Amino acid sequence: MHRKHWGRYSERVVNPTGPEHVRVLGGQGTVIGDGNTIYQTFTNAPASISSHIRVREFATIVAERTRGFVGREFVFAAVERLLVAPGFDSGYVVIRGEPGIGKTSLIAELVRRHGHVHHFNVALQNIRSAHDFLSNVCAQLVVRYGLSHAALPPEATAGGGFLSRLLAEAVEKAPDRRVVLLIDALDEADDLGVAVGANRLFLPAVLPDGVHIVATSREVHDYRLAVDSMDEIALRDDDPHNRQDIAQYVRDFVQANHDPMRERLAGWGTTVEEFADLLTARSQGNFMYLVAVLRDIRSGRIDVERIGDLEQLPRGLRAYYLRHWRAMMAADPELFRTLYEPVICMLAVAHEPVSAADLSRWTGLSPNRVRGVLRDWREFLNEERTDGAPTRYRLYHASFQDFLRDEVALDEYHEAIAAAALGKLGL
Ligand SMILES: Nc1ncnc2c1ncn2[C@@H]1O[C@H](COP(=O)(O)OP(=O)(O)OP(=O)(O)O)[C@@H](O)[C@H]1O
Ligand SMILES: [Mg+2]
Repeated sequence: MHRKHWGRYSERVVNPTGPEHVRVLGGQGTVIGDGNTIYQTFTNAPASISSHIRVREFATIVAERTRGFVGREFVFAAVERLLVAPGFDSGYVVIRGEPGIGKTSLIAELVRRHGHVHHFNVALQNIRSAHDFLSNVCAQLVVRYGLSHAALPPEATAGGGFLSRLLAEAVEKAPDRRVVLLIDALDEADDLGVAVGANRLFLPAVLPDGVHIVATSREVHDYRLAVDSMDEIALRDDDPHNRQDIAQYVRDFVQANHDPMRERLAGWGTTVEEFADLLTARSQGNFMYLVAVLRDIRSGRIDVERIGDLEQLPRGLRAYYLRHWRAMMAADPELFRTLYEPVICMLAVAHEPVSAADLSRWTGLSPNRVRGVLRDWREFLNEERTDGAPTRYRLYHASFQDFLRDEVALDEYHEAIAAAALGKLGL
């Protein structure tokens, strides 16, 4: 019975955007939809609607987080089962998990596979308001389902009413009368301007039949969602399926980076399988740990000379950050205190991507020295390039910001930004 429905669900796939359709310029740069991608569709829509769609930012996120994507079939299967479950004709599916376990990547992969309407809340990019969400998602629905709205009315972003209306209209137009909306990181959205008692992002308490919203959140206490119909999927770090995906990622990485990795493994006198087992345990089921540690091993920043026995690998993501922070400090304490720490901590307290000139103003360091830090820490940063504007930087991952918040006193950096802002206003 479920299998039959499952098949029907798969047929809803529209405009799948395989990696061959996506080109990333300069690593973290602009992504250009090539031909039949959802982003192409959005770009071709009238400007009165398409200008609300965060095409550029989201295409970049999808391309970046799905590059080298591994596994997660157990989560996709669980989601698909819920979407066709009897008695669950509409409602929310919330996927919860710890920082760095791979929630954003999951949503990005669902976008890539199915082309569903989607929204990413990205606090470090200052995309977190209900207004950002509603304008982006309403505009996508209009374009994706060919709804007859020439522009978004002002009430589109003032509450959830217009979104509900569009969802009902979209179901009518959807070939199988089903619509899926994907939302990443409810925990990164803010509640500014959202009436007390309303749901986060003004999400509707009741969804029209045939509509499901698949959302993710960190394991926070309350992501402000009081709805009639909801199910949850917990992504657990110790789930054997999660561990299998982690081990697979390690094996794939070793294979894809054969030459440097073979040398490192030989140095430790270990086999690929032993190495995958150990790293899986040390990662504590966390993908962000793997990405960071494997990158350091490949580059030689972590090798037998530097750490000795493989047993010395950090245990868990936070231990990795701490080790890196301390190693950079020990390498040159004076340079660290006067240069690295101020620039990185300023990035941790900034509310949006910032330019080297901003960082230079806030820290009092010369633009050249700031650029040197940005170069040395590039693996921890994301670069945003827009034609004709200076490159802007932000921390790559919120888990690094969490680490800095907990381990390094950031108050003085908040104050420096506030003082610089007041100075600019002439106060
Ligand atoms: N299935 C996967 N295959 C390959 N890489 C992955 C996978 N899942 C996550 N990653 C990588 O691991 C890192 C962390 O993943 P991601 O940002 O999705 O975590 P998250 O759960 O969203 O974290 P947070 O709660 O802080 O937002 C990213 O660099 C991502 O590319
Ligand atoms: Mg995330």
